[in-house]
Order: sequence, then structure tokens, then C-alpha cells
Amino acid sequence: MIEMQGLTKKFDDLTAVKDVTLSIAPGEVLALLGPNGAGKTTTVRMLAAILAPTAGSARVVGHDVVAEGQEVRRHVGVLTEAPGLYTRMTGREYLDFFGEVRGFRSVNVVPASMS
Ligand SMILES: Nc1ncnc2c1ncn2[C@@H]1O[C@H](COP(=O)(O)OP(=O)(O)OP(=O)(O)O)[C@@H](O)[C@H]1O
Ligand SMILES: [Mg+2]
Repeated sequence: MIEMQGLTKKFDDLTAVKDVTLSIAPGEVLALLGPNGAGKTTTVRMLAAILAPTAGSARVVGHDVVAEGQEVRRHVGVLTEAPGLYTRMTGREYLDFFGEVRGFRSVNVVPASMS
């Protein structure tokens, strides 16, 4: 499901993720534990094809995170510690907006108490 080979990310002189090689099978649950700044979020961002690795490679659901980033992003959902919500949108507007982006038809649901 997830394959990493020598996955590495450098930010200038800082090596945030160094040479990670790991396989995760379908149905397997993996927790990345480490102190602040260990590189957990950077690893997840590379696996979600949000951030390009400096070296090494990774495949998610068989797709290369660099060459097939769009396909990877189609399969992956990430909720980080800073979700980056659009605070001007209501919950309902959020569902409408992202539903529309994903190709769902907009449906007006009237709560039972208001009908
Ligand atoms: N965009 C960036 N530019 C420069 N340095 C970065 C960037 N993103 C992360 N870093 C640095 O890379 C290192 C790893 O950061 P990362 O956020 O991956 O750690 P983390 O394990 O998720 O930490 P935390 O437990 O605090 O969430 C840190 O030293 C961080 O400051
Ligand atoms: Mg983090």
C-alpha cells in the first residue's frame, strides 16, 4: 500500500527526513512516533504528494509520489495538526464546496425540523 525507499527531505542545510525505507501492507496501521521536529509531518506530506522528496522514492497505492502525484492525491486524505480551514465558510458551505470539487451534485438538504 505504501512503499518508501531511501526517502529523504532536506530544507537547505537541514535534513528533515533521512533515508527512510519502509513498507506498509494493505490494512496495516502504522504510527510514526518521534519528538517535535523528528520529520513525521514532512514524511506524511511527501507520501501525500504535497512535498517533493530531495532523494529516494515512495509509492502509494502503486503510484509514484513524484511522477504520479495527482493520482496519489486522489487516494490520500491528510488531516494535520493545523487543518487550515477556511474560517469564513460554514460547515454546510464546506460540504457543498468540497463535494462540488469532487464532482458531487449539490443537494439542498432541509433539516426535518424546518420542513
Ligand atoms: N517548509 C519547511 N521549511 C524549512 N524547514 C522545515 C519545513 N518544514 C519542516 N521543516 C523542519 O523540518 C524538521 C522536521 O519537521 P516536521 O514538521 O516534519 O517534524 P514533526 O516530526 O512533524 O514535528 P512535530 O512533532 O512538532 O509535529 C523540523 O526541524 C522543521 O523545522
Ligand atoms: Mg508534525
